[in-house]
Amino acid sequence: MEQYGVGDDIDKVLISETQMQERLAQMAAEIDRDYAGRDLLLVGVLKGAIMVMADLSRKITIPVTMDWMAVSSYGSGTKSSGVVRILKDLDTDVAGRHVLIVEDIIDSGLTLSWLQKNLLTRGAASVEIATALRKPDAAKVEVNVRYLGFDIPNEFVVGYGLDYAENYRTLPFVGTLAEHVYNN
Ligand code: PRP
Repeated sequence: MEQYGVGDDIDKVLISETQMQERLAQMAAEIDRDYAGRDLLLVGVLKGAIMVMADLSRKITIPVTMDWMAVSSYGSGTKSSGVVRILKDLDTDVAGRHVLIVEDIIDSGLTLSWLQKNLLTRGAASVEIATALRKPDAAKVEVNVRYLGFDIPNEFVVGYGLDYAENYRTLPFVGTLAEHVYNN
């Protein structure tokens, strides 16, 4: 862990860099096959998705375009309300386009469930989801994930785009955060 400069902040590595990159390559191959001959728009959800977007998109070999959204749940304690506010909208008109939302993690599922519906109401031809991680035990709504990296336990995880107080996003692996980091 020393080369990452995070001391003993990480308890254990859940998904190594190699595991993540190998799984993303498999997901990219599936996407290549499923969208061959179609016009595909990748939509990343800031900020957590930047790593998976960068790595997954470069493993996809069919031509794709890329756009970004930033969203936030209303209020800090009301994430479970499922009401999402758009902080930065797409630059692209998705009407008639095949859209693949690229995410780092599905936790309660509320963000993605809302986003998928929102993009469909704009007239997208299809809206599918690719996510690096999913926490099945945290699900509040069912989200139909087309491309899944890994199911992980309902623990506090950081790395590979995921943060705690904006730290740890740049770690190339996914690890659990040591309790002393958030209990002081
Ligand atoms: C995370 C993640 C998803 C959302 C998933 O983003 O990137 O967008 O939470 O949670 P849900 O399934 O419970 O809705 P976060 O709000 O932490 O913002 P960030 O990507 O900027 O870190």
